[in-house]
Amino acid sequence: MGKGKLQKFAEMETFSNVFQYPFSVIENVPFEMKGHWREQYFHNDNPIVLELGCGKGEYTVELARLYPQVNFIGVDIKGARMHKGAKEALTAGLSNVAFLRTNIEIIDRFFAKDEVQEIWLTFSDPQMKNPRKRLTSTYFMNRYRHFLVDGGLIHLKTDSNFLFTYTTYMVEANRLPLLFRTEDLYHTDGIDEETRKILSIQTFYEAQWIARGLNIRYMKFHLPQQGELVEPDVEIPLDDYRSFHRDKRSSLETSK
Ligand SMILES: C[S@@+](CC[C@H](N)C(=O)[O-])C[C@H]1O[C@@H](n2cnc3c(N)ncnc32)[C@H](O)[C@@H]1O
Repeated sequence: MGKGKLQKFAEMETFSNVFQYPFSVIENVPFEMKGHWREQYFHNDNPIVLELGCGKGEYTVELARLYPQVNFIGVDIKGARMHKGAKEALTAGLSNVAFLRTNIEIIDRFFAKDEVQEIWLTFSDPQMKNPRKRLTSTYFMNRYRHFLVDGGLIHLKTDSNFLFTYTTYMVEANRLPLLFRTEDLYHTDGIDEETRKILSIQTFYEAQWIARGLNIRYMKFHLPQQGELVEPDVEIPLDDYRSFHRDKRSSLETSK
């Protein structure tokens, strides 16, 4: 590990807004703040919003600035990235921000029933070959149901046609109420001022994809508690610019 990373990790240990629970830790020790984030950390009754796969935490920090009456928690496994958002929130004195370093696979160990109001998925890895790891798969929707309020909101902002198309089918197949959907966010008319302000927050990955001329896609939908969820059974063209994720021996152009 580089010196810079080691320094960031050491600094993170001292940050009061960071909770580090890689799998090896949580396996042995239950997370005692589960169900008590508001009273024990935020010291208020405000709603909680998660950014899953937050990277450097741009959405977590900027939304917290825009909405002081809402609590925001960024979740990622990569500590060196999270360091940036955590430090910025501390420096700015944002008391409505926390970061949780863990694997999203075990996210339901950290939040109790109805503890979370909304989830943001920002430029998530599309996981084209592995639906089980896709953050908008029904596998993850079922996980989210353990702690998201009935009808809680899920936002997906992505460059990936694959992930966006898959999620569209997933939403349709399960009749999840879709509130808004655009395949080209920055060339869509009729978006109100407040929504525009939120959606123009740009993450590290977003800036890179925009520089490469890719469309930014966005949708938001409700996730009700009722009803068994089914995986969509469709073949979707792979994102060709993500060839580094493709098995070299495979000539597949589509995936489920
Ligand atoms: C493509 S990056 C996007 C980061 C950030 N949202 C942005 O837009 O710049 C995906 C992020 O998700 C995180 N991630 C992916 N799968 C994860 C998992 N199972 N648990 C925790 N973090 C995960 C990665 O560490 C990475 O930081």
